[in-house]
Amino acid sequence: MAGSVKVSSAHPNKGPKASQADVSRWQVPLADVRVDEELLAAVRDTVASGWWSAGPRVAEFERHFSHYVGADQAIAVSSGTAALHLAVLALGCRAGDEVVLPSLNFVAAANAVAVAGARPVFCDVGGGADLNLSPVDLDAAIGPTTKALIVLHYGGNPCDMDAVLEVAERHRLPIIEDAAHAPGALWRGRKCGTIGRVGCFSFFSNKNLPTGEGGLLVTNDQELADRIRLLRSHGMTSLTWDRHRGHAHTYDVLEPGFNYRLDEIRAAIGLVELRRLEAENAARRRLAGRYRERLDGVKGMVFAFPERDNRIVSSQHLAVVLLPEGASRSDVQAALAKEGIQTSVHYPPIHTFTHYAALAQRRLPRTVAIERRLLTLPLFGHMTEEQLEFVTDRVIAAI
Ligand SMILES: Cc1ncc(COP(=O)(O)O)c(C=O)c1O
Repeated sequence: MAGSVKVSSAHPNKGPKASQADVSRWQVPLADVRVDEELLAAVRDTVASGWWSAGPRVAEFERHFSHYVGADQAIAVSSGTAALHLAVLALGCRAGDEVVLPSLNFVAAANAVAVAGARPVFCDVGGGADLNLSPVDLDAAIGPTTKALIVLHYGGNPCDMDAVLEVAERHRLPIIEDAAHAPGALWRGRKCGTIGRVGCFSFFSNKNLPTGEGGLLVTNDQELADRIRLLRSHGMTSLTWDRHRGHAHTYDVLEPGFNYRLDEIRAAIGLVELRRLEAENAARRRLAGRYRERLDGVKGMVFAFPERDNRIVSSQHLAVVLLPEGASRSDVQAALAKEGIQTSVHYPPIHTFTHYAALAQRRLPRTVAIERRLLTLPLFGHMTEEQLEFVTDRVIAAI
């Protein structure tokens, strides 16, 4: 989710004044990017190359990402939202269709469905510490006009994809994985994003693989990938880069599309961040383990997601705690903010927003039961033990 992201205090150059102001705002920010010489050199080289729009680095990033997750095709785009929009369109969702997705998600997935003209239908979560969708309720939400399913791996914790696949196959429906939180997460040996028909990733600054803005789709379906590539760039049959290289001299337009391309500068950052992803995810998992040890069960708090078998590996995008029943979340957030600790909420359920509340919707009792208890605490790979202890001590004190 879009939020304020502190510029790392480890920035080797002094940087502009605005960044310095951000640095001093939070003692412990919610998320943080690490800026170092390798990253700066990658950006410098790209800028110096003189080719800034989609070109060889975007193609290299796509190649490396598809290899990393084990997908045949990767299509880099300008944001995770663009990825979801293209997935929904390429699967043919339009007016008269419904798409089922969990209400406990960032609004981008519902918006992508709605702007395609289709109707989002919300399903419930598992409940308690399980903030992923309930496959049983996903099944119950499917109707005669359902065209696709969107599943979210909440906070990088894989959904029960065996159960989700069973539901999808029984109804012959394609699955879009909203894997914005889940690059590198594994469901029984398979990378999240590669299990459904198409997976959508986000590289927004607070994500495990940040590029500023950016996104990417993966699929093993060549026809779908071709359609997504076409829609990514105005429905045109060739890119400016192809024409620049002399690989094409003209182009045709096969259907109306968009400019959802990624640029070279972000792709260069993405290549560096992709090499760091496994270490970043491992550090986040270790920190989440420390959060669990220090908070789970204390004063009625629950650390989200139970520990699972070791073939299910989280990318641990978020550290989410359920506050004790009846605790005032806004009071806790205010007390933490006073200490310089930034927190957030993932998410206000989509069905509670004005636009979506107006649609007649299904009952979501388990989402309703936990929504006011959700609190997201700071988490990033280079967070120190000292910062974590400071946050957990203050959380306990604030309750
Ligand atoms: C779960 C989820 N889906 C989709 C998105 C949209 O991604 P982006 O911000 O790159 O458009 C985000 C990110 O903010 C997200 O957290």
